[in-house]
Amino acid sequence: MSARVRCAVFPVAGLGTRFLPATKTVPKEMLPVVDRPLIQYAVDEAIEAGCDTLVFVTNRYKHSVADYFDKAYELEQKLERAGKSELLASIRDVLPRHVRAVFVTQAEALGLGHAVLCARPVVGDQPFAVLLPDDLIWSRGAGATRQLVELATQQKASVIAVQDVPIEQTRSYGIVATRDFTGRHGEISAIVEKPRPEESPSTLAVVGRYVLQPEIFELLESTKPGAGGEIQLTDGIAALLKAHKTLAYRFEGRRFDCGSRIGLIEATLQYALEDDDLRDAAKALMRQALAKG
Ligand code: G1P
Repeated sequence: MSARVRCAVFPVAGLGTRFLPATKTVPKEMLPVVDRPLIQYAVDEAIEAGCDTLVFVTNRYKHSVADYFDKAYELEQKLERAGKSELLASIRDVLPRHVRAVFVTQAEALGLGHAVLCARPVVGDQPFAVLLPDDLIWSRGAGATRQLVELATQQKASVIAVQDVPIEQTRSYGIVATRDFTGRHGEISAIVEKPRPEESPSTLAVVGRYVLQPEIFELLESTKPGAGGEIQLTDGIAALLKAHKTLAYRFEGRRFDCGSRIGLIEATLQYALEDDDLRDAAKALMRQALAKG
């Protein structure tokens, strides 16, 4: 078994109902934050972590995700003729040359655990990363996935990103209980999907970044539908931690919940403020909008 984490799995078969009607034709992973779709941020983070095989678990409505990573001959020719080299580079660089994209279909929407299982034939018997693109993580230093990969490699463990949430929000997340929390990580002793606040083992919530050992696949094969009637990744992890070291890791960085409308707006404001070309104009607009508010 190679210890290097080469495969990153992107479950992108969800319906994105919170963004209807936009998501009637635009997959939620293709919604932009400033000028790049959410999927591009996740892909860049995986590549920065050393992954060179990107596995997109998609469905028949998500052709635009595959189209996005494909070569756009006509557009490239037009930009080339017009001498627009920066724009040309931006569309050519969506994937570096050493990285390959593989698309697998999740024919039925049976849940996140099932989506990850669909990637098994590509991933095989090696540790792999899972990134949920609607969790956008901004970070000044190493990206969140790279942080997880380093810890997973060093500890020969599965590692799950977590952050503290208010108790009333536990029903939106997988929640972990941990023991021996030192520094940024601790061993997970229990994990439950979307518990009610009064039943939640803690307020430490799973964020959409995982590095998993391949034993998870066998366990997902026998995972029964759980919360929401879906095959949950959380339930597969609950089985995994009984026999394999599984760590919770409080990553460095700021997470935006781009699966919600307000989270997408928050991310857009933050990324505009981080952009040298946009910062001043964005600040002026925000001030104006607040003054009128
Ligand atoms: C999924 C996972 C959940 C996790 C969350 C993070 O839920 O099932 O455990 O906390 O992502 O964003 P979803 O938001 O897809 O319902």
